[in-house]
Amino acid sequence: MSPAPSSVPGGPARGSAGLPAVDPALTETISRDLDDVEERLLAAVAHADELADATSRHLVVAGGKRVRPMLTLLCAQLGDGTGPQVLTAAVAVELTHLASLYHDDVMDSAAVRRGAPSAHALWGNDIAILTGDLLFARASRLVADLGPDAVRLQAETFERLCLGQMHETTGPRPGEDAVAHHLQVLADKTGSLIATSARYGAGLAGCGRDVVDVVAAYGERVGVAFQLADDVLDLAETTQQTGKTPGTDLREGVATLPVLLARQRAAGGDAQARDLVEVLDGDLSGDDALAAAVQALRASSVTEQAQAQARQWGEDAVAALDPLPAGAVKDALVAFARGVTDRSS
Ligand code: IPE
Ligand code: IPE
Ligand code: MG
Ligand code: MG
Repeated sequence: MSPAPSSVPGGPARGSAGLPAVDPALTETISRDLDDVEERLLAAVAHADELADATSRHLVVAGGKRVRPMLTLLCAQLGDGTGPQVLTAAVAVELTHLASLYHDDVMDSAAVRRGAPSAHALWGNDIAILTGDLLFARASRLVADLGPDAVRLQAETFERLCLGQMHETTGPRPGEDAVAHHLQVLADKTGSLIATSARYGAGLAGCGRDVVDVVAAYGERVGVAFQLADDVLDLAETTQQTGKTPGTDLREGVATLPVLLARQRAAGGDAQARDLVEVLDGDLSGDDALAAAVQALRASSVTEQAQAQARQWGEDAVAALDPLPAGAVKDALVAFARGVTDRSS
């Protein structure tokens, strides 16, 4: 198949859920750095091979919020600010994230990403998987310039991300608590890279161990909050909102917190929850059946309960920042933690 145009109007814009505007000077600094990251990102995905070039650029130009590089840049402001190493790390974390998206869309049979057709929909599974691998290779090349500690952190992070995806696929072991298993999956598949994004920023900008550990703990929690909110967003009404197809988790049978809470309540004898679970366990292969299931789940109080848990994880992230001195960077991190759970894309 030939390289395809990548942009479909309607997806969330780049940086749309990025930096909370709490301090004009800080916003300007981070916006300028993000422009730099964008340029480097495009350079980092370029290939002489025409197909590899098209497939690698595809999701970069399609959109995306750039949340992970934004956190790297923001946490660098706790130290010496942005230098070449911080910029390299910011590009590397977005590349790692991108690689995981190419693979995730194959796993989830997702047709749309960032408002554009997913890579496997355009080029098939093999090319999509290999593009993910290429992007990961490019991330590794960049991290190599940051020294062995950064390389080890990158490897440990990607290992956790893969294990999170694997454990989501296998589900809990017999006797294991389904919600506890799920939260560990979210920490591994999403919290790990968000924590590392923050850790790179602070660490490479010369912050002490104590500050680096604080932002890493914050990142883990904010990552879980982010994913919990994302799973509620999967119940959105339209693709327009998220740039993804609503109901993908339900259709693919991926357990999310609202579903697990419904099952928990149904097992406890709640009649409404039992009716809901019956709908969720029905045949959702047809568009109408899926839309009805999404609507039923969205309307149930289990979804509000999941959203409340997301907010709580956001507040736990805020609490992790306690040891940091007051200031614009801390304020922005606090606002970001609260913003991720009320975002609409
Ligand atoms: C999507 O991440 C995958 C999750 C971890 C929920 P983002 O919501 O950061 O996706 P982009 O980068 O903005 O497309
Ligand atoms: C996030 O999982 C993907 C990774 C962390 C690799 P999801 O499957 O929930 O993300 P979306 O909803 O497709 O973006
Ligand atoms: Mg997915
Ligand atoms: Mg997935």
